[in-house]
Amino acid sequence: MSSSDHIATHRAGAVSVVRMNRPDKKNALTAEMYAAMTAALTAGEADEAIAVHVLLGVPGAFSAGNDVEDFARAAATGRLGLEVIDFLVALASLDKPLVCGVDGLAIGIGTTALLHADLVYASDRSLFRTPFLDLGLVPEGGSSLLAPRLMGHPLAFELLCLGAGFDAARAAQVGMINRVVGAEEVEPAAMEAATALAAKPRGALAAARRLLRSGHVTSREDVLTRIAEEAKEFARRLASPEAAAAFAAFMTRKK
Ligand code: COA
Repeated sequence: MSSSDHIATHRAGAVSVVRMNRPDKKNALTAEMYAAMTAALTAGEADEAIAVHVLLGVPGAFSAGNDVEDFARAAATGRLGLEVIDFLVALASLDKPLVCGVDGLAIGIGTTALLHADLVYASDRSLFRTPFLDLGLVPEGGSSLLAPRLMGHPLAFELLCLGAGFDAARAAQVGMINRVVGAEEVEPAAMEAATALAAKPRGALAAARRLLRSGHVTSREDVLTRIAEEAKEFARRLASPEAAAAFAAFMTRKK
């Protein structure tokens, strides 16, 4: 089991809670954080005492997406760690339901991860944005398949390619989230739903989830195949001068 200072896990009855916890960087995700989240999800899947996963962030930041400095390092060395892919594969391979609570920023993978969730509660101050193209990159995490299925091509293109920010009301309208609540209500809403799910008969819950997700996304295999296709293109883009310029601009802006 991997550990990370920036991922906190605990259990509440039959609910496994994973919290991204790097507030000073708005929950920008590092390889170590992906590995710890993958380990927590995998452990929850294997544990008969666990029925439901919950993924949370910190106040104001679900996640600002992949750490851009990690992207820059990967571009310079030509090596993108496998941790992010392992995390995406773990998300796409869950048998137990995933409930997410979003308060504030949900950028890049902070948005695309939600496409693998079964229930999402978000605060009225949330922002969903995927600036992949502005970074010289392409959509990831199966989003190029899942988002058009969910909201249709034009809206998916607007989100994933134009990089338009969707507020919580828009995200609810396009079917990305279940309910918009106040910031203080996000975690209680997520935990209440997760606890209610965890009280359902387990066999029926697993079967119902499998049936609904296969109707929604065709098949898990399709999603995993798409994640792999996107990852190949992503790695090519990561090594491009376009991406190098975008990462340098972010880091210069910082200074
Ligand atoms: N990677 C690395 N560091 C990040 C980050 C990311 N994705 N997102 C935020 N941070 C860091 C900032 O550099 C800053 O660090 P510093 O205090 O050491 O300077 C800190 O987190 C706070 O962010 P800041 O930019 O000051 O907050 P903000 O509220 O003004 O803006 C964002 C928040 C998310 C809009 C902005 O930080 C941003 O655009 N981040 C990049 C998002 C991104 O492109 N993600 C990848 C998607 S594929």
